[in-house]
Amino acid sequence: MNGKKTSPVILVTRKLPPAVEARIARDYECILNGDDRLYDDAELVDQSDGVDAIVCCHTEHFTRAVIGQLPDSVRAIVNFSVGVDHCDLEAAGSKGIVVTNTPDVLSDATAEITMLCMLGAARRAGEGFHMVRQDLWHDWSPTFMLGTQVTGKRFGIVGMGRVGQVAARRARGFDMEIHYHNRRRLAPAAEQGAIYHETLESLLSVSDVLSLHCPNNPDSRGLLNAERIGQLPDGAIVVNTARGAVVDDEALVEALGSDRIRAAGLDVFNGEPDGIHPAYRELGNVFVLPHLGSATVETRDAMGFRALDNLDAIFAGREPADRVT
Ligand code: DGY
Repeated sequence: MNGKKTSPVILVTRKLPPAVEARIARDYECILNGDDRLYDDAELVDQSDGVDAIVCCHTEHFTRAVIGQLPDSVRAIVNFSVGVDHCDLEAAGSKGIVVTNTPDVLSDATAEITMLCMLGAARRAGEGFHMVRQDLWHDWSPTFMLGTQVTGKRFGIVGMGRVGQVAARRARGFDMEIHYHNRRRLAPAAEQGAIYHETLESLLSVSDVLSLHCPNNPDSRGLLNAERIGQLPDGAIVVNTARGAVVDDEALVEALGSDRIRAAGLDVFNGEPDGIHPAYRELGNVFVLPHLGSATVETRDAMGFRALDNLDAIFAGREPADRVT
């Protein structure tokens, strides 16, 4: 940072898309992360010295301890993410720090990845890809690598928010029957014929494909545990494009290993990226992706602009549209 401070100083913790960085550099004094190096907690605090707001991703952990050490100059944590489970909202709120996120703009991209995970798991795409690339494919036969068809099956959604609703629309394209469980029942116009289940147990019992779309919070952590997996139909498919923390990995791995669960399509993991359950790297019936839900050029630009709209509102003294605390 050079020269006299004339506008708010913004710490941008990760390398953002070029158009987003161009806008923030135009409008603010900013500290960019050209190398896209992941800051640990101590660096996050150090880098925040003299900063008015932080634009960050889910890769930075704003725990109570980190927030406690942030300088008083920090007025806002502006997330480039819809998930805010990496931020201790209570600690931020009690320090008077505004926290925002980026809803809506990533629903389409994430629902696309949901379909990819569902099909990848159902049609054994990971195994097939591996066979071709490793030159292990030398025959075709009527019984070769049979998967299961999703057309006409029941698609069970846990968390019928924005992404869940788009995933439902996409799954209807496969003639799937849509079922969901949500804290509140949606209005008929939003339901579009989806069948509401007041209890999770009721949803589980009819879900040929179970797709997780709820945020990670104390209510949802470890939600898909051994008991609930036991309530799924035999041979069900589990899809997770929400957060790894919603799944009890030991329970899912055990069910996948015994074929109680036919397959899983997972884009998110506990301990990602390096500390994921080792079985997810081994099991043939798991289709895995490296947290790509929102990873399209269009969506990442839109997330950045939405984050900057929130930032602009905060420094213009307006209420940011996506304030979470
Ligand atoms: C989100 O926005 O929460 C995505 O998981 C990427 O961070």
